[in-house]
Amino acid sequence: MSDEARPPRTAVVIPAAGRGVRLGPGAPKALRALNGTPMLVHAVRAMAASRAVRLVVVVAPADGVAEVKHLLDDHALPERTDYLVVAGGDTRQESVRLGLEAVPDDHDIVLVHDAARPLVPVDTVDAVIEAVRDGAVAVVPALPVADTVKEVEPAAEPGGPEQVVATPVRARLRAVQTPQGFDRATLVDAHATVALAGEGATDDAGMVEKLGAPVVVVPGHEEAFKVTRPLDLVLAEAVLARRRANDGF
Ligand code: C5P
Repeated sequence: MSDEARPPRTAVVIPAAGRGVRLGPGAPKALRALNGTPMLVHAVRAMAASRAVRLVVVVAPADGVAEVKHLLDDHALPERTDYLVVAGGDTRQESVRLGLEAVPDDHDIVLVHDAARPLVPVDTVDAVIEAVRDGAVAVVPALPVADTVKEVEPAAEPGGPEQVVATPVRARLRAVQTPQGFDRATLVDAHATVALAGEGATDDAGMVEKLGAPVVVVPGHEEAFKVTRPLDLVLAEAVLARRRANDGF
């Protein structure tokens, strides 16, 4: 089939090569269990739940590639989905770039998803892919913010009073989630062009903005929250329990 004739192919890159990211004592964050299954496995399954996703590339710590491969081998994924595990780099940006390099050329759409958002519903994944298929080069799921947000001048001493410099209009603010979806060539261009400064980019869509390319937002989902604090683990297990009660998941 010619490139023109075949439907677009979608791959997902999951950067999970961070070190020392811990939710209190216990295993590294991506390997922390939620209802007995590692968070990373939930995240891979959440991506594989979309029928459009053909390949999931997990970026693991260089010395953890074999361990992550075993983990994925041990947990069933849909047969239609392939997965690869590659070694990451020193920053998230570097790890995403290495994951992107492992995506075969015949994939036109690439999603980047946080392992720390294990419960994103398939409808959100599909909405992101759909928006890229419809012509957007960069798509971010996001929610309106509930809190009023202040921009401050950070205090010299942690915990000290901070000068407020601005109060953005709340109705125009969005809290962004993942998976973020991209036209593959645009994301490759962003990673080749946008300089790595310090810790590098924590947000791939932000890199595309720096290229000057348009980024659009689609509705996110409250269950796509990032598991960051210990309380988030409680919330995540409650979401899983509710899903199990509702549909035997
Ligand atoms: O450290 P932080 O929470 O910003 O990491 C965000 C994501 O990027 C995590 O899933 C982490 O595993 C990943 N990461 C990575 N390679 C690094 C640093 C972070 O894949 N060198």
